[in-house]
Amino acid sequence: PSAGLLDRFGRRATDLRLSLIDKCNLRCTYCMPAQGLPWLSRERLLTAEEVRRIVRIGVDQLGIRELRLTGGEPLVRKDLEEIIAGIREDHPQLPIGLTTNAIGLERRTAGLREAGLTRVNISLDSVHRETFAQLTRRDSLDAVLRGVSAAAAAGLTPLKINAVLVRGVNDHQAPELLSWALAEGFELRFIEQMPLEADRTWEREATVTAAETRTLLESRFRLTPSEEERGGAPAERFMVWDKNDAASTAARGTVGIIASVTEPFCAACTRTRITAEGKVMSCLFSREEVDLMDLLRSGADDQAIAQRWADAMWAKPAAHGTDRPGFDLPGFERPDRSMSAIGG
Ligand code: GTP
Ligand code: 5AD
Ligand code: SF4
Repeated sequence: PSAGLLDRFGRRATDLRLSLIDKCNLRCTYCMPAQGLPWLSRERLLTAEEVRRIVRIGVDQLGIRELRLTGGEPLVRKDLEEIIAGIREDHPQLPIGLTTNAIGLERRTAGLREAGLTRVNISLDSVHRETFAQLTRRDSLDAVLRGVSAAAAAGLTPLKINAVLVRGVNDHQAPELLSWALAEGFELRFIEQMPLEADRTWEREATVTAAETRTLLESRFRLTPSEEERGGAPAERFMVWDKNDAASTAARGTVGIIASVTEPFCAACTRTRITAEGKVMSCLFSREEVDLMDLLRSGADDQAIAQRWADAMWAKPAAHGTDRPGFDLPGFERPDRSMSAIGG
C-alpha cells in the first residue's frame, strides 16, 4: 500500500476534483470570454470508463476519500449519470459532489440521485434577472432557479450556493442574496475572485475582499464565527443572526467566505485535481501538468498510473505564489488555463 498523495510540505491530498469537460453554457465574466474558448474535441476528454478507472486508482491506492465532479459545466456531459453510476458501483460509500451552474439540472435530478450523486454546489451570483445576465452573459436565471429547487427537493443536500461578488455589479446585492439563501435553507459561500478569468483583467484592487463582504453583510445581519472545525475546507464559516433582534436565540443559518486572495489556505490544502483531458494539476495554480491520458490509452497498469499521479503531487508547490501564498507577489505566474478549464 502506498503512502498516498503526499507532498514535500507534509500535506496529503484526500480530496479529488475531477473536471469532466471544459465547455460551458454560461460565460461568467470572471471565468470565460464572451466568445467562449477553443473547446477540447471529444476524443481528448476522459471517457466514462477512464474516469471510473482514475477514481478507482485514487480511492483504492492513493487514499482519496472524497470526489467532486466539475467542469466547465459537468451537466453538458450527456453521460454524467453513467459516469456517476460507474463510480458508485465501485465505491458504495464515497461522497460524490457536483459543482454546477444548474442549467438543465431540473430534469436530471432524479437520474443523478439514482446514479448515486451525494450533493451539489451551485454557482449563482445574483437572484436578479438583469444582474445575472450581466455577470453570465446569458439570460438563464429561471432555468438555474428551477435547477436549484429541483436539487433541493431531490435531497441533493446540504446544498451550497457559490457566489462571486464583482464590484459595482452584484456586491450591493450580497445581503439580499444571503436572505434568499437563508430562507431557502441553503449554505451560501462568497468567493473572492481569483486571477483565473480567460481575458486576464484581474486586479487585486478590484477583488471584493472577505473583509468587505463581511461589512456588506453586516449592514443587515450580525455574524459570529462558527465553532465548527474548519480542516482543509476553503470557507471560513459564520453564524448569521438578525441584526435588530437582540432577543433572538436561534441563528438564521450560516454563511461561508472563501478568502483565496486575502487569506489563502494553501497550507491546509487537501486537494488534487484532474483536468478533463486527464492531466494532474497539483494546485489550482500549477503551471505544470502531468499527463495520465497517455498511460491510460497505452495499456499501462494501475501501478504506473498511481506512481505518476503520486509523483505529480509530490511536486505540489507550497502555495499559489509559488513559495508563498499571494497572487501579486513577485514570481507569481498565472496558469495557462482559465477556471473553466481547470474545474474550479
Ligand atoms: P465543499 O466540499 O462543498 O466544501 O466543496 P468546495 O468548496 O471544495 O467546492 P466548490 O467546487 O464549491 O468550490 C468552491 C470554490 O472554492 C471554488 O470555486 C474555488 O473558488 C475555491 N477553491 C476550491 N479549491 C480551491 C483551491 O485549491 N485553492 C483555492 N485558492 N481556492 C479553491
Ligand atoms: N475566481 C473565483 N471563483 C471563480 N469561479 C469561477 N471563476 C472564478 C474566479 N476567477 C467559481 C464559480 C464556481 C466555482 C467552480 O468557481 O463561481 O462556483
Ligand atoms: Fe461556466 Fe462556471 Fe465558468 Fe460560469 S464560472 S462560465 S458557470 S464554468
